[in-house]
Amino acid sequence: MILLSRPAASRIREAAAAGAGTARVSLDLGRTEAEVVLEGEAVAFPDGQRVAVGELADVEANPESVYAVLEGAVEKVTWFSEETGRVYTLRATRGWPALEISGILMQRIKGVDPREDAAAKAAAVSPVRGRVLETCFGLGYSALHTARDAESVLVFEIDPNVIDMARLNPYSAPVFEAGSKIEVRQGDVAEEIQRLPGASFDVVVHDPPTLAIAGELYATAFYEQLHRVLKPRGRLFHYTGDPGSRNRKQDLPGRVAQRLGEVGFASIRREPAALGVSARKP
Ligand SMILES: C[S@@+](CC[C@H](N)C(=O)[O-])C[C@H]1O[C@@H](n2cnc3c(N)ncnc32)[C@H](O)[C@@H]1O
Repeated sequence: MILLSRPAASRIREAAAAGAGTARVSLDLGRTEAEVVLEGEAVAFPDGQRVAVGELADVEANPESVYAVLEGAVEKVTWFSEETGRVYTLRATRGWPALEISGILMQRIKGVDPREDAAAKAAAVSPVRGRVLETCFGLGYSALHTARDAESVLVFEIDPNVIDMARLNPYSAPVFEAGSKIEVRQGDVAEEIQRLPGASFDVVVHDPPTLAIAGELYATAFYEQLHRVLKPRGRLFHYTGDPGSRNRKQDLPGRVAQRLGEVGFASIRREPAALGVSARKP
């Protein structure tokens, strides 16, 4: 699928204004470059679709949006699901795009791009070896990072809309390629984890949405399951988000660390670079 964001739209419009016959632009949000042909008022894409250059004005004017070229029209990559009542939007950044669910970002973009955010999470459990469990797929960025050194990565995602978004995101593509070490299972990890064998993972990366929208993924019962499925000496990284103030009420990393200790984790450490907490099963 051809995806456009501001840099590509600007370059096409500038080339058209200068009377050029072709332009080299990225049609996959900066992953690769391709040549488009300028034919008067229209731009012809490599897959044969043609769009009026004027239609790219919206793309240029909305730097945070991603647009798809579909049946000769340019459409924002966003949809509403009646089933979940949520809006899913792919959001352009300076690097890898982010996923927004009803206005809530699923990756960090402030002062860091989503790729660096995922790299920091993987680094918090490095060196990664053996079997990895990732609780929450999103766009698969942290799974892609842990998969580099892991034997295999099993990852759950509750929302099929999110998996659909990942399927059209160029930066998530390696997850679905033949030979990928990542297995994505659609389901609620809070339930599915109960069916996983004990002591079967070397590393767990727990990257849940905020406490306000996924309280069950911060509950003691869930932490007991994380502890159960880890092998002895297995490592956990738990994303908590902005550590905020050390005020007792707001100190989420502190509360998470305490509860991880209560279910048996040891070597519990704050990981400021990854905005979370790491721990080890004794
Ligand atoms: C913060 S994002 C994960 C980002 C991901 N690690 C990445 O690198 O792109 C959280 C994801 O967890 C999913 N989720 C929420 N509750 C879940 C549950 N109970 N089981 C599995 N996935 C869940 C959300 O739909 C969302 O896609």
